[in-house]
Amino acid sequence: MVLPDDPKYALKKVDEIREMVDNDLGFQQAPLMCYSRAKTLLFISNDKKVTGCLIAEHIQWGYRVIEEKVPEVSSENEKVIFERQKAWCCSTSPEPAICGISRIWVFNMMRRKKIASRMLECLRSNFIYGSYLSKEEIAFSDPTPDGKLFATQYCGTGQFLVYNFLNGHHIKW
Ligand code: COA
Repeated sequence: MVLPDDPKYALKKVDEIREMVDNDLGFQQAPLMCYSRAKTLLFISNDKKVTGCLIAEHIQWGYRVIEEKVPEVSSENEKVIFERQKAWCCSTSPEPAICGISRIWVFNMMRRKKIASRMLECLRSNFIYGSYLSKEEIAFSDPTPDGKLFATQYCGTGQFLVYNFLNGHHIKW
């Protein structure tokens, strides 16, 4: 975990990784609300490569995703295709939240090996000293289709919390 007070070389490395992650995500990411309070988790492989990155920030509010019904007859594969293609909508009523996942990324050759899940577990026990965050206290910034599939599975519901919507007027900090 890299914290805002860590040495400059570590923060510089985190900046480089964030730039690479933003390029990989392929669209404009919301800037962090407060750089001086963001916490970055890096997943380092045995051969010392950065395989995963999670950037978390303090937030106050999240908005619940409104789930759209998946057609009942579809196979698992069809459900994933449906999930990938549909736009997501969320409630306009804010709900209290504590931790915002600003970025979550895993190197593409290493996906579906629970790296993102492990980073989130680690974040939940380290974000606030002495407390373990519940899944209800976490929100995801403008999730990608991959992010939405992951968050749905991790949170155990498609109605997880989101924040930072770039394509509306809803960047409410
Ligand atoms: N399609 C369907 N289900 C997915 C999924 C996907 N692409 N990614 C995760 N899940 C679900 C699965 O149920 C998975 O469990 P399983 O593999 O046993 O079926 C579960 O979530 C846990 O996934 P995990 O292995 O912990 O996630 P990951 O390490 O592969 O990382 C992302 C998930 C989203 C971080 C990764 O796909 C990624 O980096 N994507 C590109 C960047 C991005 O879009 N980030 C999200 C920003 S909001």
